[in-house]
Amino acid sequence: SRRRVIFSGIQPTGIPHLGNYLGALSNWVKLQTSAQRDDVLLFSIVGWHALTLPQDPTRLQSSREDMLAVLLAIGIDPTRSILFHQDHNRHHTELCWILSCLTPMGKLRRMTTWKSRLAASRNASSENDIDDSLLNAGLFSYPVLQAADVLAYRATHVPVGEDQRQHIELTRDLADIFNRTFSRHNQPPLFPLPEYVEAPSKRVLSLKDPSSKMSKSSPDAASRILLTDTSSQIKAKIRGAVTDSIPGITYDPLSRPGTSNLLTILAACTDSDVVQVTKRYENKGHGHLKSDVTDAVEEVLKGPRTEFERIRHEKTFLEQIAQKGALQAMEYSAATIDQVRRRVGL
Ligand code: ADP
Ligand code: NA
Repeated sequence: SRRRVIFSGIQPTGIPHLGNYLGALSNWVKLQTSAQRDDVLLFSIVGWHALTLPQDPTRLQSSREDMLAVLLAIGIDPTRSILFHQDHNRHHTELCWILSCLTPMGKLRRMTTWKSRLAASRNASSENDIDDSLLNAGLFSYPVLQAADVLAYRATHVPVGEDQRQHIELTRDLADIFNRTFSRHNQPPLFPLPEYVEAPSKRVLSLKDPSSKMSKSSPDAASRILLTDTSSQIKAKIRGAVTDSIPGITYDPLSRPGTSNLLTILAACTDSDVVQVTKRYENKGHGHLKSDVTDAVEEVLKGPRTEFERIRHEKTFLEQIAQKGALQAMEYSAATIDQVRRRVGL
């Protein structure tokens, strides 16, 4: 089988939550474990993406360190995977500019992430009034930067959450446009078309409002479980999770989103099938389910939490890891960027 190049990234915008973990990060570790010897794995902390929203510089700096420590704590092994800060490798921005000049604006306008930002910035009192201060060109075009992140390494597989699937489609489109535009004299296409890799849990929902996904940006801290939450915090948040008053437990995401979300979390944390898990609770109540979900989440998070606490303030150690990752990433992308420049005539 052909060699795989696996790339994924996460923004340094705070400690990841259970949705990030079950929807993306846990899969990174699984892919690392199951990788063949010659597969290449790259995991990036994408600081440039974070700048699309206002960031406090001091907090951003410490969030970058938090994220590096979290990724190590969940089991990303820097001797096996290339673990690095995106902003340490300028090849991403260089390729981003070249791809931007090949990206039709209409494609970016159709991104659902952009459409929801646009909707959020519309003044409630008048449909056509847009609050421009909430929108910037980076926010509009960040899917192109994401494509550059992936294509700089000619990645073949991209494990991200379902909400990012449309961006992988765009990445494939841009790879194809580049290949068709710049493959003269029988040159083989430069970029493989990367595949989206699905995670065990597609969408973890907010514990307080199960009509929306668990997210960093929700103002209600009780709506999400952070990877560094203590066992008593986990217990309190799950006890307070919104469910319903229907007796018995069934898996029905449409009419019982809160209850189904707990079953989703339990199945993902115990590596089991949600239908099998649900059977065990047919004649039980929400109290019983919540107590088992609490135990399963605690079991999954206690190792990473302990490891995070151990390494978070080992500054020299973290800096060494970041430096090594930066060199490896830059060395790996150099050949691609070289070819890109030559093909476009630079
Ligand atoms: P957030 O959306 O909370 O700001 P990011 O955008 O940094 O998080 O996403 C990091 C990764 O986690 C992405 O691959 C994203 O698809 C995934 N992800 C985010 N929220 C969830 C969720 N509630 N359920 C499943 N996956 C998620
Ligand atoms: Na997101």
